[in-house]
Amino acid sequence: MPLCPLRQVLDEARKGAYGVGAYNVNNMEQIQAIMQAARDTASPLIIQASRGALEYTNFTYLKHLMMAAVEDNPDLPIVLHLDHGPNLDLCKKAIAIGFTSVMIDGSIDYDVTTAAGKHPARSLEDNIRVSKEVVDYAHARGVSVEGELGTLGGIEEDTKTDKVLLTEPDEVEQFCAETGVDALALAIGTSHGAYKFKTEPVLALELITECRKRAPDTAFVMHGSSSVPKELVDEVNKYGGNMPGAMGVPIPAIQEGIKRGIQKINVDTDGRLVVTAAIRKVFVEKPEVFDPRKYLGPGRAALAELIASKMRDFGTAGHAADYQPKTLDEMKAFYAGQG
Ligand code: G3H
Ligand code: 13P
Ligand code: ZN
Repeated sequence: MPLCPLRQVLDEARKGAYGVGAYNVNNMEQIQAIMQAARDTASPLIIQASRGALEYTNFTYLKHLMMAAVEDNPDLPIVLHLDHGPNLDLCKKAIAIGFTSVMIDGSIDYDVTTAAGKHPARSLEDNIRVSKEVVDYAHARGVSVEGELGTLGGIEEDTKTDKVLLTEPDEVEQFCAETGVDALALAIGTSHGAYKFKTEPVLALELITECRKRAPDTAFVMHGSSSVPKELVDEVNKYGGNMPGAMGVPIPAIQEGIKRGIQKINVDTDGRLVVTAAIRKVFVEKPEVFDPRKYLGPGRAALAELIASKMRDFGTAGHAADYQPKTLDEMKAFYAGQG
């Protein structure tokens, strides 16, 4: 099976009323674990790399690891996606190394840094302009594009503005119509990382319903969707970690989000947590171990189990054989036909 365009995977998810996880990867064990989970549950999947992941791995290594996953799993529809692309340049680079999908995070200007060390938020007009540039470039090559309206908390809080800006449904219709993005990340109160809420999870799920009315044909994306399960945090802390007050998005809230119109669900932090817990456990229980395979292996196994459970919870399981991936040439013709 060739690589799959994001657009097709999310269109299928919308038809089938299920969600597809987009899992961040940085190394071989993570990629193998996620592939194992997809095989075990017969799920289509999105593997995504952030700018940080590409820099950490020097691009070439991650590219070949991701391509190895594709070669090793010919029966699964797999999307290779750039997560939080900061500008057209990085999107071009990702497309050049074979990604079938890119995100342009046009809600903030990563290329400008203020005296306070922050990146300024972009106006709607500027966001539309930079996102449209990426759409024009990517669609001409059959590659899908995700945009973002509004800002998340978490890591973006540090770099953007002090307050979280939820997506304005009124802007969604204009943004989708003028940019032509295939998918749109909505800011509904989630944030990146392990500390999403102070006392209890609060999400503006009703915004999804409102936005769905404004853009019926665009897929919606929920970033910051790790659940930060208490058992996992307890496990990390039990073996010497220090993560007081960690809290995430409960699975039922994500399932409600899917019902209201979310198709792509971004998960990174839970993967970090489960691997950390497994490695810490080995270090504490078997201090004689110094072969990295003896702790990375359990980390990989624990991650595969966690991702498989998400594939079942999001409703992705069992959908791998529903369709044949379209080629980028077919997608190019599709976009050209849209005028
Ligand atoms: O967007 C957030 C993801 O968790 C990626 O994080 O930039 O540390 O790779 P990163
Ligand atoms: P989490 O930090 O909740 O895993 O979110 C990841 C994400 O949104 C990547 O884009
Ligand atoms: Zn994100």
